Amino acid sequence: MTQPNTSASMQALLNLRELERAAAASLAPEVWAYLQGGSDDMVTLGENVAAFGRRFLRPRRLVDVSAPDTSLELFGERLASPILLAPVGFQGIFHPEGELASARAAAARGQRMIVSTVSTYSVAEVVAASGQVPWFQLYTTPVRATTQALIGRAEDAGCQVLCLTVDAPVFGNRESHGTTLLELNASSRKGNLEGLDGASAVVDASLTWEFVDWLRERTRMRIVLKGIVTAEDATLARERGVDGLIVSNHGGRQLDRGRASIDCLAEVVSAVEGHMPVLLDGGIRRGTDAIMALALGAAAVCVGRPFVWGLAAGGQAGVERALEVLQAELVRGLQLVGAPTLDRLDASFVGPR
Ligand code: FNR
Repeated sequence: MTQPNTSASMQALLNLRELERAAAASLAPEVWAYLQGGSDDMVTLGENVAAFGRRFLRPRRLVDVSAPDTSLELFGERLASPILLAPVGFQGIFHPEGELASARAAAARGQRMIVSTVSTYSVAEVVAASGQVPWFQLYTTPVRATTQALIGRAEDAGCQVLCLTVDAPVFGNRESHGTTLLELNASSRKGNLEGLDGASAVVDASLTWEFVDWLRERTRMRIVLKGIVTAEDATLARERGVDGLIVSNHGGRQLDRGRASIDCLAEVVSAVEGHMPVLLDGGIRRGTDAIMALALGAAAVCVGRPFVWGLAAGGQAGVERALEVLQAELVRGLQLVGAPTLDRLDASFVGPR
């Protein structure tokens, strides 16, 4: 980095692509590869972005857009923006303040963060540093007592929403990582997993739908399944009384050759028939991408790599800049498509070429 990581230098970065370039310049090559990479041939990773590019907006004219409002109600809470920070593990490898910087930025902007099970800083530390209570993302270990303890820690921190990641029975084949995650994660911090048994294995290949019932019996938090991409599974989730879904392919880091997130959205939305909110993540790089997802039925969207670019480039100020840019693009985009509030959006705003 030739520039200091001040707010002023972050303000000079005009869009997420510029933040991405600044992040590339500030990270060691192996950390950059870990952040950017996907599984196998990274087809799904590329599709997540490309599939937005194949869609086009159908703006409406002569609508009063003088007072745009991006707020929404989600799980009984009023949120200022439909853009959330997706769970990203080990944020301490991107910036020494890791999740604390991301959480402070999210709190400063009134946006909701989802803290990963494998975070560098624990969910309690995140709450203490930011004053904001995030959602908690759960990876299970084969040791149920450990899972139960993790849930307890999230509840003690005040979390109201639990996102169970269901697309990682095993980790995807990520060949772009020159080094293993543990080598990258040089810090000895264990975050949420500190002092828990079996914490080295955060995947459980034996997990089935019964685990959702097990969770339901043990927590009052809302249960959101992250990684649902088919109508079949959306229907099963609905039958299990799940509270919400996130359409996601883990940013192309798990199964390769799956469809782009945005290409999975319509069937999931139609299967839940309005019974629960459906969120989407993967490939959102402009406010107009978020608008397309919201128009096609997403209640909200999450971004992963984009806020981490900000974190790597400038810590809290960088994350704030990433969120600020996306939010400004969202507001301007809504005005230009003629939808001053989110509930005005519907599928008629999106068309193929
Ligand atoms: C992730 N993702 C992720 N998901 C999850 O459920 N738990 C986790 O710990 C992580 N960790 C993680 C690390 C890194 C470096 C990346 C890039 C992603 C997936 C993440 O929540 C989200 O699904 C994607 O990042 C969304 O795609 P975009 O926005 O990065 O295109």
